[in-house]
Amino acid sequence: MIAMATKIKSAEVEAKIAKFREMVEAELGRILGREETILYQAMRYAVLGGGKRFRPLLTLAAAEAFGGAAAVKTALPFAAAVELVHAYSLIHDDLPCMDDDDTRRGKLACHRAFGEDMALLAGDSLLTMAFEVMAGAEVPPGGTNRARKIRVIGEMARLAGPDGMIGGQVLDITFSPENATPESLFQLMLRKTGALITWAARAGAILGGARPSALKAVTIYGENLGLAFQVRDDLDDAGKKAVPRRKPRPGRSASEANYAAFIGRDKAAERLVRLVDGALDALDKGRIKSPLLRRLAFSLNR
Ligand code: IPE
Ligand code: IPE
Ligand code: MG
Ligand code: MG
Repeated sequence: MIAMATKIKSAEVEAKIAKFREMVEAELGRILGREETILYQAMRYAVLGGGKRFRPLLTLAAAEAFGGAAAVKTALPFAAAVELVHAYSLIHDDLPCMDDDDTRRGKLACHRAFGEDMALLAGDSLLTMAFEVMAGAEVPPGGTNRARKIRVIGEMARLAGPDGMIGGQVLDITFSPENATPESLFQLMLRKTGALITWAARAGAILGGARPSALKAVTIYGENLGLAFQVRDDLDDAGKKAVPRRKPRPGRSASEANYAAFIGRDKAAERLVRLVDGALDALDKGRIKSPLLRRLAFSLNR
């Protein structure tokens, strides 16, 4: 009986995730369907038809947890916006001056398909557009809802910028294993990857009307998830590459900042389990009952 109940519940969760994913795809297609120019083609190439949509799903799941179906509707443009920012960060991350990667999401990286110049500009456009989408998003009437909207836009500006993701990318490109500690690597990951993931969860919760104590719990959930996400990615990468890919350049280490390579795969795998537990624990402590937020955390344990 118990096993069956769990199974039914998880089928419901999977169906909800599939539905949310469809909503996000449709919204992204709508946003990027404006023009047929080469710039829009490059943007669509980088955003559509690939990607797990982990961040937008987090936004919608958190919105639903606090504000139900109405909040999901309100949060949809914000969920799309975080994917635009994420896709921009990946285009720029793959450029020859950064990680110099030829492939992304199972196909040629944007700069390999459209040239470095167009890829750079497509990335710039996606970032700018994310703010246009959020600024133009409709929220329910009333000062409280307007204030929530302004708050999440401001938080994106901070978390995507020098105090967040970009700061993390700077720590990443200046990383040197000789001077690093597991703690400094966590600081890097918390910004490089954790900032957008934390925003994604917080934005949904804020738009859904979470109280301050619950928002604190969501923040701890997001930070643990962000770290877990990068540890997972590093474990996958460390399994694939025998040697660091990065070309040596003056002032930059040839070693990539990879947690699994730095502390060892077994320790990293243990840490991953603890981080996912930390995220789930934050939900429990905040008394946040959301099978979706739990499922998104579990998905990293694979
Ligand atoms: C990859 O992110 C880059 C990191 C921040 C680790 P994702 O693993 O979310 O990439 P997509 O969106 O599914 O392609
Ligand atoms: C990408 O990190 C993080 C951002 C784009 C902000 P990585 O360089 O570690 O991710 P992959 O391995 O290229 O996806
Ligand atoms: Mg990188
Ligand atoms: Mg990279």
